[in-house]
Amino acid sequence: MELTQKVDNRTGYWGSMEVNEKGILVDVSPEFCSCFAFEKPELIGLSIAHIIEGATKSRPTSAVGKPVIPGVIKGHSCLIRIEKKDKHLIYSVILRKEEIDHAEFYSFLQMVDKPKIRSKTANGNRYSFEEIIGDSPLMAQIKELAARIAASSSTVLLTGESGTGKELFAQAIHGLSSRKSHPFVAVNCAAIPDELFESEVFGYEGGAFSGARKEGKPGKIELAQNGTLFLDEISELPYQAQGKLLRVLQEREVERLGGTGSKNVDIRIVAATNRDLKTLVQEGKFRQDLFYRLYVFELKIPSLRQRKEDILPLAYYFIEYFNEKLIQDVKYLAPNLQEWLLNYEWPGNVRELKAVIERGMNIVQGETLTMESLFISPSLERSVGKTEAEETPKLLSLEEAVSNAEISAIQRALKEADGDRTKAAQLLNIHLASLYRKIAKYKLNK
Ligand SMILES: Nc1ncnc2c1ncn2[C@@H]1O[C@H](COP(=O)(O)OP(=O)(O)OP(=O)(O)O)[C@@H](O)[C@H]1O
Ligand SMILES: [Mg+2]
Repeated sequence: MELTQKVDNRTGYWGSMEVNEKGILVDVSPEFCSCFAFEKPELIGLSIAHIIEGATKSRPTSAVGKPVIPGVIKGHSCLIRIEKKDKHLIYSVILRKEEIDHAEFYSFLQMVDKPKIRSKTANGNRYSFEEIIGDSPLMAQIKELAARIAASSSTVLLTGESGTGKELFAQAIHGLSSRKSHPFVAVNCAAIPDELFESEVFGYEGGAFSGARKEGKPGKIELAQNGTLFLDEISELPYQAQGKLLRVLQEREVERLGGTGSKNVDIRIVAATNRDLKTLVQEGKFRQDLFYRLYVFELKIPSLRQRKEDILPLAYYFIEYFNEKLIQDVKYLAPNLQEWLLNYEWPGNVRELKAVIERGMNIVQGETLTMESLFISPSLERSVGKTEAEETPKLLSLEEAVSNAEISAIQRALKEADGDRTKAAQLLNIHLASLYRKIAKYKLNK
């Protein structure tokens, strides 16, 4: 009954199963049975593939590298964490969709079965499409488009709000192209002062200006020869440099500052911006001719609020990331925190989500990331609490307050329904499985 014991201090939890080396179920937690309406004896001895549809291709060995997998259990799409326990594996359901319509169900299954886009070698670039988390329909579409365009040498303009992953895409496009064994050179146009820009990007010949190196210096364009030049924050490119860059794009050659001849270059340009270049063109801040050169293929990376399905997989991905970095062992997101994450607007997109998780991971104790571990900052605490002058009982954490409210609502509903759980669930306007889960969680099962 080891599983039951472990369950009690977990939240956001739909129960777990223990599987032996052969993938056969040897134990299931009572929560799993009640959440998915199974009887334990009918499950023991079955293959895990019978219970989790769509996840059959994930063999236990591959699960070690990717501990959270999507799968379908009794028609519910779920996220399932796989952990090793000696020679056995524990499959814990950490997320379950309450309701699922058939179209969604089948697109989910398709998503699970779809092979991942891989980059075999990653020279100079750190990311491949596999590391771009998110399989929402919008993201899947963008990844597919990006993979297709990666194969060509065509210029790509990545647009999207700040923090949506444009740089990640730029690296992945390079990693998937035939240029992958050549350099990926990034230039942040916003970070280089105007006066240094030309020498940095176009290079200079010896004695081009006072303080210049005697032997001259190649610019980023030359350094990217045969590879990819990533022009980040392209909207910030100094106006004069825009004309020079246009010549590079048209003539495919570069002339160093103070130089007399030009050199042929074979580079692929990937540019990124979180500003609307068309408006900048209208305002006369960005050259129209350069804009059209860059606008060959636009890849619009959607904001996080446009693809809410990606929020929790990303959150779990960052939990794993910071578990390793901060030597933590966080496994779960408290249910109210999940809800908060899903409802928040994320103006800073994935970057903001990563920062929020990082903050929590520095503070959290134990296996569950809670609202409390995220909202520890005094300013936020004050805004949630009452004024200091008031004599109030000790301020509860939001999680405790929510738990208390849930417990009293459930107790009242059960009383009004004379212990009839189906009726109580109706009164509370939640699913029966949810009610069972909460009863188990709060140990109201007397
Ligand atoms: N889909 C994703 N999967 C995993 N990590 C992501 C994803 N999208 C973004 N990130 C992470 O979020 C952070 C911000 O991403 P990135 O720097 O690529 O954003 P950006 O679009 O270039 O933003 P900006 O316009 O502000 O430069 C990075 O740490 C990146 O690794
Ligand atoms: Mg960026």
